[in-house]
Amino acid sequence: MPAPDLETIVSLSKRRGFIFPAAEIYGGFANTYDYGPLGVELKRNIRDAWWRAMVRERDDIVGLDAALITNPRVWVASGHVANFTDPLVDCKKCQMRWRADHIAEGQYGEVKRDAAGNLLCPNDGGELTEPRQFNMMFRTQVGPVQDENSTAYLPPETAQGIFINFENVVASMRRKLPFGIAQSRVSFRNEITPGKFVFRTLEFEQMEMEYFCHPPKDRANPAEYLALHREWIDTRLAWYRDTLGIDASRLRVRNHEKEELSHYSAGTADIEYLFPWGWGELEGIAARTDFDLSSHGKESGHPITYFDEDTKEHVVPWVIEPAAGLTRTLAVTMLEAYSEEPDEKGDKRVVLKFRPNIAPVKVAVLPLSKNEKLQPLARKVYDLIRPIWMTQYDETQSIGRRYRRQDEIGTPLCVTVDFQSVGEEGVPGDDAVTIRERDSQAQIRVPVSGLMTALRERLPGC
Ligand code: GAP
Repeated sequence: MPAPDLETIVSLSKRRGFIFPAAEIYGGFANTYDYGPLGVELKRNIRDAWWRAMVRERDDIVGLDAALITNPRVWVASGHVANFTDPLVDCKKCQMRWRADHIAEGQYGEVKRDAAGNLLCPNDGGELTEPRQFNMMFRTQVGPVQDENSTAYLPPETAQGIFINFENVVASMRRKLPFGIAQSRVSFRNEITPGKFVFRTLEFEQMEMEYFCHPPKDRANPAEYLALHREWIDTRLAWYRDTLGIDASRLRVRNHEKEELSHYSAGTADIEYLFPWGWGELEGIAARTDFDLSSHGKESGHPITYFDEDTKEHVVPWVIEPAAGLTRTLAVTMLEAYSEEPDEKGDKRVVLKFRPNIAPVKVAVLPLSKNEKLQPLARKVYDLIRPIWMTQYDETQSIGRRYRRQDEIGTPLCVTVDFQSVGEEGVPGDDAVTIRERDSQAQIRVPVSGLMTALRERLPGC
């Protein structure tokens, strides 16, 4: 059962330390969020799962971490300086700024029209200006002089750093086509639409991979290339389903219509998730042909090619690009993991049913009470587990409330140390502890000597 609405996740995120609205003490800052102690772990785990699937478990993809601020001509070649724009309108009455396409699509609900049928401001019904194109890249200045020649951009995607390093990677890693280069890091877009939590933010993280292959023999009918595109769509869909545990009924593939495609594109499909407000994009998988490598070749005056040993020809490889949003995926993982169910007393228990590899905290060590007799063994157990898995130690409040807290942050296993473990009133302890499983709430007793093995069995892939 996913979360009933976004508000439930927004509030849990703040209460439990996943995600905080940014700069709250200054009244916040639109479309920006800070990741708290659990959010940062969750984000890292999702990125690691992606990196493992895309880089470590494959022998045809390597990683990269390119500079964020780079030569501005990169963004001329990519088309972002000229075309990375949204149509904006301003309200002449309240001065609020809107995306014209979002108003027309009904993203602000039913909007009034004037007598001539023109759409009016969704806020106060004021007259709107004509749409004008607004570039979504953030500009900055490099060096002490602030003029047009010192303008640089914050990257709106990670992909271009990959294209401009294509030859470096081929030469240094002795790569043969087909192969991919993967990168995950922050991107920036001057989004003016009020975002839905971390769905659309000014600063967000992406997980992108460019898969380079031989150019097709027939450009007009690139059957093998399109088959590779479909293969990547299936691979990425399976990752959301099988690695993150997202229910297949809330995932779909949407192929872009012809009129949505750029002139160079041979096809794009989005993997979409059924958010509480409807279907929204999680990842775009684009068949970008040789557009990017060719454009950088032209703009830089340094043609980017690959020498094909078989045909003894220099060719410009074609590319398939699976481009995912890390922070958007994080929101989906939380929505999906959310579950409300009765506990053993029939009270409501909120559980985040993360897969163990994704869960921010893997194990919680909970002495039954604050009693000092329990502490030495509880600390010993904590010290045993902590170097291996993200672990929390908590001895305040009743054990029931501590279980609830761990359920709510999605900790798969709790280890409880009680008086039977340490002994009392002349009865020696059994040096055993209880493992409590989050989902089944089942409890099993294991000797401390066998604890790590028992935990490992219950934390696959961690
Ligand atoms: N290089 C291709 C590219 O950047 P995109 O569809 O614009 O493609 C890829 O972005 C993914 O990045 C999206 O599917 C989405 O998950 C994420 N994304 C894009 N803009 C975002 C924003 N403002 N906030 C959060 N995530 C965003």
